[in-house]
Amino acid sequence: MNGLDGVVKSVQQTARYVASHLADHTGTGSETNPSGEAQIGADVWADRLFFEELSELDAVGAYASEERQDVVDCGRGYSVAIDPLDGSSNLASNNSVGTIVGVYDAELPAAGRAMVAAIMVLYGPYTTMAVARADTDGVGEFLLRDGFSERWGTCTIPETATVVGLAGKTSERSDACNALADELNHDLKPRYGGATVADLRQVLEYGGLFGYPATTTNPDGKLRVHFESAPLAYIVDAAGGRSTDGTQSLLDVDPDGLHARTPTFLGNGVLIEQVETALTG
Ligand code: AHG
Ligand code: MN
Ligand code: MN
Repeated sequence: MNGLDGVVKSVQQTARYVASHLADHTGTGSETNPSGEAQIGADVWADRLFFEELSELDAVGAYASEERQDVVDCGRGYSVAIDPLDGSSNLASNNSVGTIVGVYDAELPAAGRAMVAAIMVLYGPYTTMAVARADTDGVGEFLLRDGFSERWGTCTIPETATVVGLAGKTSERSDACNALADELNHDLKPRYGGATVADLRQVLEYGGLFGYPATTTNPDGKLRVHFESAPLAYIVDAAGGRSTDGTQSLLDVDPDGLHARTPTFLGNGVLIEQVETALTG
């Protein structure tokens, strides 16, 4: 089993445990994460579980998390960047959440092009794990059950776009972004649920666009390059889609720090072009 197989298996086993114990951890936490956002109990709990498993792997030399200020040195090997629980505010309302993992063959901070794999776990009515790797084509998807996982299929973005999920209040977005939103809402159905992983899985199933643009509250966008935007862009590219920060692929964004944020758009190539035209004139 090569190093990547070990990382995928460890994420799969830990995610299965997370899925079956989420209900015990919906309480609020008392700390804030390095991005200055309130942590809930499940954020810290999930981070600890993934750290305990991933940091022990021979293939993992560094563990970086949305929930930790600094990279943790684990020896030699890949750098793993994780959003242990994506969309965690959805737990209180019993809506879907996820886990996002980027595997970098580089020290962090690093641009997404240094990734060799990305994993997206969706804790929905059932739990699935989508995996994109440099050594395999496409995006394999697995159904996680107790004790094992079975191949569920592949994620390939459809040619025809159907849905759009664009974050932010119109009062906090640019006029160009609001004009883009009007265009997209004219032809596409709204699908926005507060967890990028769940919203992106809609885009991968039905075709369309997910975006979290720059807003007055988050001038660089809300999503973090290492823990959300770049790994998800890696998966979308492998599924036949594209990404942009408004001007370039999210895999080319060069983060100036471990918790750097970026405006984030993911989906069909034709819609990514529409975003870049709308936002750059
Ligand atoms: P996280 O829980 O890891 O901080 O991620 C939440 C992110 C993302 O998953 C979601 O799309 C977005 O925050 C929702 O933000 P709003 O509440 O501003 O819509
Ligand atoms: Mn997140
Ligand atoms: Mn998170």
